[in-house]
Amino acid sequence: MCGIVAVIGSQEAAPLLLSGLRQLEYRGYDSAGLATVGADKGDHLATLTCRRAKGKLNNLAELVDRKGSPGHLGIGHTRWATHGKPEEHNAHPHRDSSGSLAVVQNGIIENYRFLRNELESEGIEFASETDTEVIPHLIAREIKHLQTNGCSSSGSILLEAVQKVSLQLKGAYALAVVWAETPDALVVARRQAPLVIGLGEGEFLCASDTPALAGFTRTILPMEDGEVALLTPLGIELYDHTGQRQKRSPSFLTSAEHVVDKRNFRHFMLKEIHEQPETAELWVARHLPNGLPEEVPVALPFDKSFYEGIEQIQILACGTSRHAAMVGAYLLEQFAGIPTSVFYASEFRYSAPPLVPNTLTIGVTQSGETADTLAALSMESERRNSHVNSAYSSRQLGITNRPESSLARQVTNILDIGAGIEIGVAATKTFLGQLFAFYGLALNFAARRNSRQPDEIRTLLEELRSVPNQLKVLIEKHDQLSEDLAPRFSGTQDVIFLGRGINYPIALEGALKLKEISYIHAEGYPAGEMKHGPIALLEPRVPVISIATPGVVFEKVLSNAQEAKARDAQLIGIAPEGPETEIFDALMPIPEVSEWISPLLSVVPMQLLSYHIAAHRGLDVDQPRNLAKSVTVE
Ligand code: F6R
Repeated sequence: MCGIVAVIGSQEAAPLLLSGLRQLEYRGYDSAGLATVGADKGDHLATLTCRRAKGKLNNLAELVDRKGSPGHLGIGHTRWATHGKPEEHNAHPHRDSSGSLAVVQNGIIENYRFLRNELESEGIEFASETDTEVIPHLIAREIKHLQTNGCSSSGSILLEAVQKVSLQLKGAYALAVVWAETPDALVVARRQAPLVIGLGEGEFLCASDTPALAGFTRTILPMEDGEVALLTPLGIELYDHTGQRQKRSPSFLTSAEHVVDKRNFRHFMLKEIHEQPETAELWVARHLPNGLPEEVPVALPFDKSFYEGIEQIQILACGTSRHAAMVGAYLLEQFAGIPTSVFYASEFRYSAPPLVPNTLTIGVTQSGETADTLAALSMESERRNSHVNSAYSSRQLGITNRPESSLARQVTNILDIGAGIEIGVAATKTFLGQLFAFYGLALNFAARRNSRQPDEIRTLLEELRSVPNQLKVLIEKHDQLSEDLAPRFSGTQDVIFLGRGINYPIALEGALKLKEISYIHAEGYPAGEMKHGPIALLEPRVPVISIATPGVVFEKVLSNAQEAKARDAQLIGIAPEGPETEIFDALMPIPEVSEWISPLLSVVPMQLLSYHIAAHRGLDVDQPRNLAKSVTVE
């Protein structure tokens, strides 16, 4: 997690850093800080100024406003605490003992204990509990060695010192370094954590994510794993991990990656929920054009060989992406007939199942930066590619909303869900985009493997085409309905979500949304599992939200809901209107659609209800406590 930003150029650095950090605050908001290098009025020598504040970015902005932070060169950081409490002394930037060299870092330095002991035994005193603080001390030590050995050109001495230190660091990190002795040089480095350079007019920037570059430039240069770069007012020098100079052409941000704006909505999350019809419309327009051949009903960027000879699929993901993967697994198994399993990426890394030949491994991550998912994919590709039998070799697909992310650089086949940037920490429109990606895959696999009749495929395609309009109507209706229901939850401490079959993952997603933004304890269960334990929790103060959509398990879910009602639970139904659904104390009506596409609609009332409950409680919906949008640490 954490977001870093760095700038060097002709303008004052502090306002640019603060504006970049504002766009990265979704990555962490426990504390924020910046360091600039410049000369105060009348002074000739450049000095380093460091400003840090606990809590949200506004606290830092006020501090900088009051005390200033001069210089045209600087680094900034917004923190999601890993090592050390979210206190000011643990906030980045961290400095060396002289106070003239500062570092911001995103990631985890796994061998920091060892390095810290070594530095402490040399008499270095530490000011924080963080893993990051070893870095400025190591760089300062390296600079001393280089100076003793006669290296004098200050820009290159900083570069060389960072190159040497990055070889000593274990773990995943992205970092930026400034030093008062080199007011014309900024050094950045990355390994398994994202970093993108932006080429602006009159300045060069570098940030953990592209929105921080928005407003300054559309021309970007994503750094590759292991690279170190020297940024000066004149240009960029890029080196790989062996120190070889690299030459690469920049790429350009699309307008969607550029726009980060709440429009007239109270929160990003609400705006993003309302953007879902557009997400669906775009997907239909891009992937369901008329006139596609019957054997490839969905336009996806893969050739025929991609679909051939697959015996099983395994999907690796975390959190909401994992719930989308579970719906995907249902579709791939039940519609396309391919055995499919879903794993928590964090578990798969250390307990992967025995290898099965001809396996497609799918990684789902909206950010494309989730450390556990990336590491699980890379572990899987290593163990498969080292197998003597080529039937076991790695075939991977990544589903992401960020085609410029680390995932896209790691996995060759990428399905871009194209939902546009999502700022609210709770994923909504990207979840919908991930679901659509799985419908596309399941349809193409089913068509190529003849696991479904052509008319079943045509029906599903038609149903998917109707989803954007259905979503529009549903969101308008449920926004008000959920706002009206929200006050009922003001004293609620526990909520149970029930679903079955293709809607079981939606019950899990409903519970996750509610937990993460309203801090109400919530659990999702397969409806038939209630009687095996969780039913003991039921009493009038525990609402049960049950998804009951017509299909193979409709009556079963209704009976499970009746069982809850018999225990005096308050029963809320996400179901079509009709005599069967009169059992619910409150109904959040959804249209009667085929079971296959029902998750695309049933998730919406869940999102809106969670949003309004949290907003009604006055909570910070877009930046819930302890969370961050992209989880780049293990
Ligand atoms: C929940 C949420 C998280 C993420 C999870 C994986 O609303 O956003 O549970 O889904 O951290 O993130 P990605 O999809 O970026 O890998």
